[in-house]
Amino acid sequence: MASNLPEETTSPAGLETQLDRIEHALATGRLTTLTGTGGAGRTLLAIHAAGRVRPLYRDGVRWADLAPVHDDELLLATVSEAVGLGGHTRRMPVEALVEAVCERLAGMHLLLVLDSCEHVRPGCAHLLCEILTTSPGLTVLATSGQPLGVRGEQCVGVLGPAPRPPR
Ligand SMILES: Nc1ncnc2c1ncn2[C@@H]1O[C@H](COP(=O)(O)OP(=O)(O)OP(=O)(O)O)[C@@H](O)[C@H]1O
Ligand SMILES: [Mg+2]
Repeated sequence: MASNLPEETTSPAGLETQLDRIEHALATGRLTTLTGTGGAGRTLLAIHAAGRVRPLYRDGVRWADLAPVHDDELLLATVSEAVGLGGHTRRMPVEALVEAVCERLAGMHLLLVLDSCEHVRPGCAHLLCEILTTSPGLTVLATSGQPLGVRGEQCVGVLGPAPRPPR
């Protein structure tokens, strides 16, 4: 499955220390969550971090943009599409979709990025508990205002760009 990482034109210059921390967390745990306030640079860091580690995953990186998602039905439909299950899943009930995503990812070696989980944290936590159990080759990078509260989660706080010095 080809990766679907969004393009990011902002340079990663100055982000090396944070990218190293994220890379270390991804290498040592199954779920890393970038936390911080809106505009802090969570999405920017997630794109650059995922781009860095992509060669390490046999089945690449799949990116799910959850920014417009406000309910569990759309959450599961969006993740299903991100992992290549196709649009016909939109009418399926949530639990059937959780099962379909588990089946799809079961044999894969993949980094799944869930960007902007803040509006659907309980739904993300439920899905992650399931897929991290059934998919041993799966690693997840999430971004969220607050931690997702899933066992084994490693959080990396994003503080945002340093303020410009006064002129
Ligand atoms: N350290 C940084 N250096 C340069 N630009 C940055 C930095 N952090 C963030 N930005 C820029 O600030 C804007 C917001 O960043 P980003 O979208 O990554 O934030 P976010 O934490 O994902 O916020 P939200 O999801 O609420 O929009 C983007 O245009 C991004 O390129
Ligand atoms: Mg964002």
